[in-house]
Amino acid sequence: MTERTFSIIKPDATKRNLTGKINAVIEDAGLRIIAQRRIQMTEAQARKFYEVHSERPFYGELVETMTSAPVVVQVLEGENAMARYREVMGATNPEQAADGTIRKLFALNVGENSVHGSDSQENAQLEIAQFFTDADIVG
Ligand code: CMP
Repeated sequence: MTERTFSIIKPDATKRNLTGKINAVIEDAGLRIIAQRRIQMTEAQARKFYEVHSERPFYGELVETMTSAPVVVQVLEGENAMARYREVMGATNPEQAADGTIRKLFALNVGENSVHGSDSQENAQLEIAQFFTDADIVG
């Protein structure tokens, strides 16, 4: 089934000029980038986006990392896009990521792991809605 998911190219990747290389991996995997914007995430946006992790010991560091440089927020579309993108990203901790995945290729460590992708269809819709309106998305 064709579906949509939400992606972020994180500060560690934008700082190292990896946006194009990551987009190439995404597109080579058969996912279409149907909306994309480079933004400086505010502290409030980062806190809201990662609210589910607010009780975790790494929450403060996560918010700091995500606001440390620009990010690229994206909507991806394709067959089973949510699960497909999670395969393409690889494990959260790059030490456990499979060969050929974005995190194996580019991530530095678990906190600077180059990309985020939604973990459910419900979260994909909520996350897309935090950063895009329907008019921004041209499928
Ligand atoms: P992401 O998919 O964006 O969702 C939550 C993020 O928290 C995750 O990727 C990691 O970058 C980060 N994270 C998870 N575990 C840790 C940890 N132990 N220390 C620092 N950051 C973490």
